[in-house]
Amino acid sequence: MTTQPPENSLPTPPPGCPAHAGIGGVRRLYGPEAEADPAGLYEKLRAEHGEVAPVLLYGDVPAWLVLGYSANLTVMRTPSRFSRDSRRWSAFRTGQVAPDNPVLPVVHWQPICVFADGQEHRRLRAPVTEGLNRFDRRGIRRHVTRFADQLIERFSTTGRADLVTQFAEHLPMLVMTQLLGMPEEYGPRLVDAARDMVRGTETAIASNEYVVSCLRRTMDRKKGAPGHDLVTWLMDHPAGLTDDEVLEHLRAVLLAGNETTVNLISDTLKMVLTDKRFRAHLSGGQMTLPDALDQVLWDSPPFLLMAGRWATGDTELGGRKINEGDMLLLGLAAGNADPAVRPDLSKPLFGNHSHLAFGSGPHECPGQDIGRAIAEAGIDILLTRLPDLHLAVPDEELTWRSSWIARHLVALPVRFTPQSVKASPAASPSTPIASTPDPAATATAASPATATAASSAEPAAPPTPDIGLGALPRQRRRWWYVLTGKSRR
Ligand code: HEM
Repeated sequence: MTTQPPENSLPTPPPGCPAHAGIGGVRRLYGPEAEADPAGLYEKLRAEHGEVAPVLLYGDVPAWLVLGYSANLTVMRTPSRFSRDSRRWSAFRTGQVAPDNPVLPVVHWQPICVFADGQEHRRLRAPVTEGLNRFDRRGIRRHVTRFADQLIERFSTTGRADLVTQFAEHLPMLVMTQLLGMPEEYGPRLVDAARDMVRGTETAIASNEYVVSCLRRTMDRKKGAPGHDLVTWLMDHPAGLTDDEVLEHLRAVLLAGNETTVNLISDTLKMVLTDKRFRAHLSGGQMTLPDALDQVLWDSPPFLLMAGRWATGDTELGGRKINEGDMLLLGLAAGNADPAVRPDLSKPLFGNHSHLAFGSGPHECPGQDIGRAIAEAGIDILLTRLPDLHLAVPDEELTWRSSWIARHLVALPVRFTPQSVKASPAASPSTPIASTPDPAATATAASPATATAASSAEPAAPPTPDIGLGALPRQRRRWWYVLTGKSRR
């Protein structure tokens, strides 16, 4: 790339320092200032560089952030020039990326469809796409209704709740366990495990092992008793995926589908509760919930950016000279706000689905209909059951936890008229979410090695702080290791 690659070892200036934003005119995409206002940073970059901007990732490793709407589409739709194979990354090959760099969990190559191109991509993706397409909306809504009702019943009599930690963070995973054909009792602990991994806590490795052991156990069961579920369909697909490939794709589907849908639900609820236009439209019937979801997918896409694509040869994009092996980040949020396609950001986009939130081209999200269906049905049920739901704190007090690729609403405290204790017909009070006995719960929280070995036993109990990690070398405790790694068997 035209920017001089900065030294990996450059120190990070303290906040407030004029150099904080970057080095040699190249801005950092990480750090407190960048994470406090990603949209503001994208607009500064657009003003300074146009459609494609040089940026610095953690460790001051250089990359290109694609800001233009049409430039993003070009990158997504031209795999011959912009590959998904991260092994092409020149910064990686030349040792500029330290082994504990926080970008590694996202870009470390794995033998799954996400990192493949061409024929190999088609072979790996077909079972996933065809499997996900077999679920119909009504079936998904049935699962959503049951779990949403159970979640709402846990707080409906109190008149108050936090819709992020008590609703949005649970619903997608609970539904996904059913789509994958997992026993219902795995759900609550998978919710905790996924949350743990996203936050990168000390127990993230053990949480990953819990996810893997649940998946492996389900695969073992389905070999003897196939069902109407994604695990069965991936194993039976004519593409002939190996057991390892099935396992890695299930893990990718579970984690990618969960976090994105959690963010979509949280941000849509936040918008519905705080934006007067939506309140008025929703109650007046002018704007439907699907329209509201689209507006969020334009304004706050669950992935702010997607990493990444790698140049297959020297090329040009948005007037920039891109060198072979350079990394490009798809600026989904920045592209959605490109003045070339949205001169007035305040103008509603009712019924316009052409946002970049799900990507485009060969890697376009194959789970988008499922994610939308879960979010739409879940919010619909919540608003129907608690019609006077309102925010319990001033709008300005809401906070987000940010990373370079996503923003996560921390809490959405609400109040409503307390409901009398009565389950809706669809709810299943006999299996309340919080107290479902988990066959795994009696097992000792195992070390990762134990959990890995126990493929034919019930999954090891999910981690509690510091359990099962004592024997691990410090380096292996780091959260990035969890996500980079294949699921270690
Ligand atoms: C509703 C929230 C969701 C959003 C915003 C979202 C967004 C995305 C994006 C931006 C990509 C990458 C596209 C690219 O690289 O060009 C992607 C890929 C993917 N998504 Fe989603 N996603 C969501 C839900 C889901 C769900 C619910 C599932 C599974 C049930 C899922 C499974 C996948 C898979 C397997 C890929 C990789 C596809 C490939 O590389 O060929 N996603 N998603």
